[in-house]
Amino acid sequence: MEYREFSRSGIRASLFGIGCMRLPLIPQPEGQVDGAKVDVAEAIRMIRYGIDHGVTYIDTAWGYHGGASEKVVGLALRDGYRDRVNLATKLPVWEVKTADDFSRIFNAQLERLQTDHLDFYLLHALDRNSWAKVRDLGVLDFLDQKKKSGEIRCAAFSFHDQLPAFKEIVDSYPWDMCQIQLNLLDSQYQAGLAGMRYAAERGIGVVVMEPLRGGMLAAPPPDVQAVWANAEFKRSQVEWAFRWLADKPQVRVILSGVSTMDQLQDNLRIFDAIGSSHLTAGDEEMIRKVQDLYRQKLKVGCTGCNYCVPCPSGVSIPDIFRIYNRYALNGDLEAAQKSYGGHIRRGSDASHCVSCGHCEEACPQKIQIIRMLAEADRILRI
Ligand SMILES: NC(=O)c1ccc[n+]([C@@H]2O[C@H](COP(=O)([O-])OP(=O)(O)OC[C@H]3O[C@@H](n4cnc5c(N)ncnc54)[C@H](OP(=O)(O)O)[C@@H]3O)[C@@H](O)[C@H]2O)c1
Repeated sequence: MEYREFSRSGIRASLFGIGCMRLPLIPQPEGQVDGAKVDVAEAIRMIRYGIDHGVTYIDTAWGYHGGASEKVVGLALRDGYRDRVNLATKLPVWEVKTADDFSRIFNAQLERLQTDHLDFYLLHALDRNSWAKVRDLGVLDFLDQKKKSGEIRCAAFSFHDQLPAFKEIVDSYPWDMCQIQLNLLDSQYQAGLAGMRYAAERGIGVVVMEPLRGGMLAAPPPDVQAVWANAEFKRSQVEWAFRWLADKPQVRVILSGVSTMDQLQDNLRIFDAIGSSHLTAGDEEMIRKVQDLYRQKLKVGCTGCNYCVPCPSGVSIPDIFRIYNRYALNGDLEAAQKSYGGHIRRGSDASHCVSCGHCEEACPQKIQIIRMLAEADRILRI
């Protein structure tokens, strides 16, 4: 495992960090997903296994798994594990109404996480509007106070908006770190590679989220597999996706939200194998071909982060987009219609959308969810 340094704080962290937004879940009745039903024992086993095998960076947030993620991480880091990791969590800026909320939420987070300090504290999922709101409420003074008291070692933010907003936020404060969405398909999206370089040039360590686009990159369609088959070294697309990111010196940590022990072990193996090896010109050429194939096909830029659910009308938004994208990639309309039929039977299909727009306000990808649900319904309904 490679370890990279955050220059402002001198903190060294493992290149692979465990993201705790997609912890293992207790199986639910067919087709239903309840993100709050974390398989606590398995999640603790996985987090500790990762730490025992070299992971020193753990990322969670107030809202993940309906609040369960921070509690599970707190349990996993008992018995001496807390001292072996850099712990990151995030302020849910959308829940902040007054300046008093900063301390109220922060103290509750320390309690959930069973710790007296955070190594990284992020303003969660900033966009231009949420940034203006918390800035005007004095969040930077709050961060300064907490750094002074030692309760926060590094002040940071995660980001979901366009590049100009990213640059404005970067230039507003001596941040220690920023967390951005970056993967094979999202190189020009939101902050993108340009944002990565902009932040790094100003001494800000870059942490990557959604490196497999929420898991979509783990299952390449046949034409993409055919491209990888020509590579000199046979590797899974998961490994190519991680290598593409690891090749960028600006990246300090790559977070992946592992949902099973097999995935965790696979990722540990990959990060051990990556070492300090670099991509060749031939690898880069193959990657460009793969990027083109995906970009031609994908229908919806959904990464399955689940920020849009629960939908007040019970529509299974991320799963419908997953089915629609899978159809776009593999062309198997019959299988897609069958999966969508399950939602129709359970009353969680797109026809129940009442266009209230709650989902679009919550979506970090700014997807036109109402329009795309209607489109998916038109194609997938038998
Ligand atoms: N701050 C923010 O706004 C924000 C937003 C998003 C994420 N995050 C953080 O960033 C972390 C990383 O993002 P992410 O969870 O979207 O990461 P990701 O690596 O893009 O997606 C994780 C998913 O990929 C699949 N996967 C992982 N390793 C695999 C393997 N070896 N083989 C096959 N499939 C594999 C699993 O999905 P399936 O099992 O479902 O296929 C897993 O749940 C999150 O967990 C969270 O901590 C932050």
